[in-house]
Amino acid sequence: MTWTAIVLAAGLSTRFKSERPKVAHPLAGRPMIRHVLEALRAAGCSIPPVVVIGPTAPAAQEAAGPDVQFAIQPEPRGTGDAARWARPILQGRVAHILITYGDLPLVRPETFRRMIETHEARGATLTLLTVHLADPTGYGRIVRDSEERVLRIVEEAEARPEERRLSEVNVGVYVVREPWLWPALSRLRPSPVKGEIYLTDLVALAAAEGAQVETVLLEDPEEALGINTRAHLAEAERILRRRINTRWMLEGVTLVDPERVYIGTDVIIGPDTVIYPDTYLEGQTRIGRRCRIGPNTILRDAVIGDDCVVEASVVEGATLADRVHVGPFAHLRPGTRLAEEVHVGNFAEIKNSTVGPRTRMHHFGYLGDATVGANVNIGAGTVTCNYDGVRKHPTIIEDEAFIGSDTMLVAPVRVGRKAKTGAGSVVTRDVPPETLVYGVPARPRSSS
Ligand code: UD1
Ligand code: CA
Repeated sequence: MTWTAIVLAAGLSTRFKSERPKVAHPLAGRPMIRHVLEALRAAGCSIPPVVVIGPTAPAAQEAAGPDVQFAIQPEPRGTGDAARWARPILQGRVAHILITYGDLPLVRPETFRRMIETHEARGATLTLLTVHLADPTGYGRIVRDSEERVLRIVEEAEARPEERRLSEVNVGVYVVREPWLWPALSRLRPSPVKGEIYLTDLVALAAAEGAQVETVLLEDPEEALGINTRAHLAEAERILRRRINTRWMLEGVTLVDPERVYIGTDVIIGPDTVIYPDTYLEGQTRIGRRCRIGPNTILRDAVIGDDCVVEASVVEGATLADRVHVGPFAHLRPGTRLAEEVHVGNFAEIKNSTVGPRTRMHHFGYLGDATVGANVNIGAGTVTCNYDGVRKHPTIIEDEAFIGSDTMLVAPVRVGRKAKTGAGSVVTRDVPPETLVYGVPARPRSSS
């Protein structure tokens, strides 16, 4: 069966009170709408979904990412109007169309699949997803007749008191036969109360003409959360965090306190790694096996090998080989590559630099645009003076060099193999291999 989806995201998000489109706000490290689109892809839609956005919403477009099509709703006249704008793109292309909302990021792929399968198996014209909620406030209620057939959905604004007490609500996911959908959308009229055209009125339309309406009941009410306010956003974040953390624990990762570990959707972690509290793993971070990460650590787009330790540090866009030790209180910035068994200690900052195996930088200092060999000792207070105010310059430190405490390496400069710099040196010229330099400016011992 061929199908695709329309994702509605052109509303004004009045209750969210944001300058940016609601669906572009991050949730577990991804724009909210990406969660919806990923779930639809995982459920197996036949052609890229259509996202309906407002006319001034490039941010929503960017948030949705690649492999989607966009339709523009010129004015936010309601969900029923929004769906109409996908017609020029989708008419005649698939057998069935799933319609959902960009603010429903917790619906699982299995739920979308279950809806498609039920819809097909029962030969329905329209299938909708419902759930029983202890507190149905804010949702459209499902009105059924005495034989339990669905009659219509009544929106909260229009519901009579007895209807408001109905606990079965509309989650906001529908599967509709494609040829039936477009003329039905054209027949929807604005609500007398709010003046909006409600997508939910499709149900009454189908029921009135005797078309088959089916429902799929959601077992896990958490999936039904629609993000209308920042409070909903925080709740969704908590739910997603729990899902993600549980998944990693089942994969063999120890989370010492899962309530206090924040793992992005795209992060990958190897088994037997232990994560301590107040740790944020973001972006495309990948962590190997048997590592110890945290507490109080941020890894953003970091690649960490096996058997590494990173504690109380910030690592962004850096790559660590196996058995590397970082922290406490280190800052590794983009373009940093640390080879096996490198040690980086407190108050060390490294940017755009390669550091060879077993090199140690135990104390405060700065390496920028540097290439450092193997078994180098970087003394406390070492600074690569890589920036002359206009340009950045490289520093090269060869294998087994010994950089004395408080050495300033004024780039561009090279320190040769097994060379040494004395404490407090200001190195302005290349140091030959196996040579000791010291002083300001630093000179070899023999020429001083
Ligand atoms: C909607 C449903 C309600 C359901 C609830 C579930 C309608 C009329 N009501 O209510 O039955 O219980 O979701 O969360 O559909 N949008 C547009 N263009 C518009 C208006 C809205 O694209 O003109 C988009 C919004 O960006 C949003 C989605 O449609 O992503 C839903 O709109 P929203 O205003 O949040 O509807 P609810 O009041 O939550
Ligand atoms: Ca909503």
